[in-house]
Amino acid sequence: MKVNIDGELKHLFAVWYENDVVKLIDQRKLPEKIEVFEAKNSDDIAYAIKDMVVRGAPAIGVTAAFGLAMAKKNKEDMEEAVKKIGMTRPTAFDLFKAINYMKANNFDLGAARRYSTEISGRSKKIGEFGNELIGNGSRILTHCNAGALAVVDWGTALAPMRIAHNQGKNIFVFVDETRPRLQGAKLTAWELGQEGIDHAIIADNAAGFYMRRKEVDLVIVGADRITANGDFANKIGTYEKAVLAHENKIPFYVAAPGSTFDFSISNGDGIPIEERGEEEVLIVNGKSLGPAASHARNPAFDVTPNKYVTAFITEYGIFRPEDLGRMKSLMDKDLFMKDVPASTA
Ligand code: MRU
Repeated sequence: MKVNIDGELKHLFAVWYENDVVKLIDQRKLPEKIEVFEAKNSDDIAYAIKDMVVRGAPAIGVTAAFGLAMAKKNKEDMEEAVKKIGMTRPTAFDLFKAINYMKANNFDLGAARRYSTEISGRSKKIGEFGNELIGNGSRILTHCNAGALAVVDWGTALAPMRIAHNQGKNIFVFVDETRPRLQGAKLTAWELGQEGIDHAIIADNAAGFYMRRKEVDLVIVGADRITANGDFANKIGTYEKAVLAHENKIPFYVAAPGSTFDFSISNGDGIPIEERGEEEVLIVNGKSLGPAASHARNPAFDVTPNKYVTAFITEYGIFRPEDLGRMKSLMDKDLFMKDVPASTA
């Protein structure tokens, strides 16, 4: 991803490995400042994933892969390290893909590097396929952050927008703010701004307003886990955007690499949904919003049924939910994916 640092556009990754340390852009600090978090052992990695220093399914997977390679170099108890890292965020399937990949490759650093390079190359492919769905003048709505920060580079939902913009297409992005953690307002808006992509942040409950006024041409979101029938989990609030898009006859696309597809689960009811602490809902910028005695509920993801999905944008091409069997056969022939046994937490 390109980032403007002191007037100069620099290329940054969300996660990388340097001098036996896993380095992460601390996403809790954006957009105010670009700060690098250094993880030196598996405890730091588990903390960084759980506390959302790094977030977004593919980036969580890459962090876990580098983290396990580092743990092996540190001569840590690998069973413990796998357990700790595997318990951080239950919904993102990439986490378990990455752990299994590293287990199958003896926690080798070269394998972790390969995993990261593959994920970022695949997200570029997603961008190239997705770009074909974007016309000049398209107005696109997205939810949460499925950009380079969530992947390592390029992004999933944002990759097609990056490529469309780079090709000179004139696009406009509606960015859902994405309560409670505001990944849209803080991270997606920041990424789009760095590359000069025209956008506006909207309150989460404003999407229907613009859809009904025919100001949204298509929706592109990412995913945390996609099941065999095409149901998928993504950031809380995605489901209602999908229903609204359907009601307003707006195409609704889900962009994700093969590593997010969990073909071992037949439908969305089987996806474990992470519930996070109530303070994320109750406290904004250190200030309590509601009455002191009130509690909150905080599901981090929801499940959108396949009937609301126009198509999945993947590195293998674009597939309607009913065609996912065809995608699975391509995945089965893919050496990188083959290394990854299909199992889950
Ligand atoms: O809780 P988060 O910020 O990790 O949730 C992220 C999302 O829901 C993204 O849309 C998803 O991981 C896809 S990222 C390419």
